Amino acid sequence: MSSNNKPTTTDAGIPVASDEHSLSIGPDGPLLLHDHYLIEQMANFNRERIPERQPHAKGGGAFGHFEVTEDVSKYTKAAVFQPGTKTDVVIRFSTVAGERGSPDTWRDPRGFSIKFYTSEGNYDMVGNNTPVFFVRDPMKFQHFIRSQKRRADNHLRDHDMQWDFWTLSPESAHQVTWLMGDRGIPKTWRHMNGYSSHTYMWTNAEGEKFWVKYHFKTDQGIECLTQEDADRICGEDNDYHTRDLYESIERGEYPSWTLYMQIMPFKDAETYRINPFDLTKVWPHGDYPLIKVGKLTLDRNPTDYHAEIEQAAFEPNNLVPGIGISPDKMLIGRVFSYADAHRARLGVNYKQIPVNQPVAPVHSYSKDGAMRINKVSDPVYAPNSKGGPSADGERYPTDSTWHTSGDMVRAAYTLREGDDDYSQARDMINKVMDQAARDRLVSNVVGHVSGGVKEPVLSRVFEYWKNIDPEIGARIEKGVKEGM
Ligand code: NDP
Ligand code: HEM
Repeated sequence: MSSNNKPTTTDAGIPVASDEHSLSIGPDGPLLLHDHYLIEQMANFNRERIPERQPHAKGGGAFGHFEVTEDVSKYTKAAVFQPGTKTDVVIRFSTVAGERGSPDTWRDPRGFSIKFYTSEGNYDMVGNNTPVFFVRDPMKFQHFIRSQKRRADNHLRDHDMQWDFWTLSPESAHQVTWLMGDRGIPKTWRHMNGYSSHTYMWTNAEGEKFWVKYHFKTDQGIECLTQEDADRICGEDNDYHTRDLYESIERGEYPSWTLYMQIMPFKDAETYRINPFDLTKVWPHGDYPLIKVGKLTLDRNPTDYHAEIEQAAFEPNNLVPGIGISPDKMLIGRVFSYADAHRARLGVNYKQIPVNQPVAPVHSYSKDGAMRINKVSDPVYAPNSKGGPSADGERYPTDSTWHTSGDMVRAAYTLREGDDDYSQARDMINKVMDQAARDRLVSNVVGHVSGGVKEPVLSRVFEYWKNIDPEIGARIEKGVKEGM
């Protein structure tokens, strides 16, 4: 026996006689079916893998806390954002398209998911490291992700398929410009920002409502990898970002982000020149400046990746009083999708897995199902006169709402005068990037497109970029054609 004095047991706690030898008839004879310990070893091994997340399968995470350093109580009554409040969090970073073992350094947006264990229940902010997204209707999300994953025939990722989808979806132009720019490959997860991307609603104690966007700005400073560096690192260390986060926390270098909000008065949404709920658009800072809220710090690594990170279930529907959704159609789609994914991936009682359990007490009427662990007591129905929990609509009113009416249609958002799919991408190229960044953008697109994009998609790629910026489009066309 090893020196730690702990005898190996079965999962039932029964001591076993050997870690090495199966039960056999004589040392050279056949094995016996009643060696249930051998069978437990084989059976559990065969069931170790759970389905990976459909998108965002590859990731890593850590624990920490969020501390409110400013007073934003005039905008939200949420306990988690009241002055001085400190809340424990778990966070998971990820890539979108790759499988569970795929390289951390592929060009891709990064997920930025936070679960706040608040006194009013779990609040999840499931964002990305980009403030915008490729599509604006949830009907297109599944198709977009499939175009990023693998082909049906040869099981390969395919740039032709990706550009086919993007060029037929001009609303993708802003996010594609972002992706092909420097920030398309962060140096590490510590060196990137996190955004809610969507617009949410905040409601204060008086019932006044605001539209808000979250910006978690890295305190480590933005740093990115060039395509060349990313390709090299990919060959050297597939898990470069996962390792970096773990090792920096082990070293006591705790990464942090400062949370800023953009806050729009409720009424402004009607007249703002951009549809404030269109996920392909930012609110320029000049219109809605950043308002500081507090600091997010990560200071504890998981000790069991599977239990604490793989089984973590983040869902945009986990909202607390004072925080609500907005009319963003993508967000409304996500409010359904994630809990459904968790039920499929982890089972109906996934909220009872310790990492997903709230610190706030649970008094729900959910009952039974596979792997239920929490005790349920009578009465099991409401309303009842037997002392069961009852909803308190006065204390917790349905107040994160907006007025809506109209015929049921399948239609795009109404376009506001002067709004389009290309202007913000053009602003990024011309106002945010310097000449060297523009050169890298052109080089990244030329490299990507040269990796297998064929006619008729190829001509559409040139058109797409000329619509964003004629000069950049011409340079991309020249670069691709000269390289052919
Ligand atoms: P500002 O000049 O106020 O802000 C520019 C923003 O661009 C900053 O947030 C900066 O982030 C970010 N940025 C800098 N380099 C890059 C890059 N290579 N890729 C992506 N983002 C970058 O301008 P506006 O608010 O008026 O926005 C102008 C354009 O900037 C937008 O059209 C949009 O494309 C982009 N942008 C805007 C954001 C917003 O929420 N308003 C957020 C991110 C990008 P940082 O300060 O962290 O360096
Ligand atoms: C993961 C659906 C848009 C960020 C997922 C998962 C699904 C999903 C099913 C896997 C969940 C799991 O198995 O745990 C959708 C749908 C979308 C959408 C239907 C649009 C309609 C977005 C957007 C963002 C985003 C716009 C960012 C702003 C993430 C992140 C994860 C994720 C960060 C990983 C969560 C984790 O770390 O566990 N998405 N998504 N998604 N999505 Fe989305």
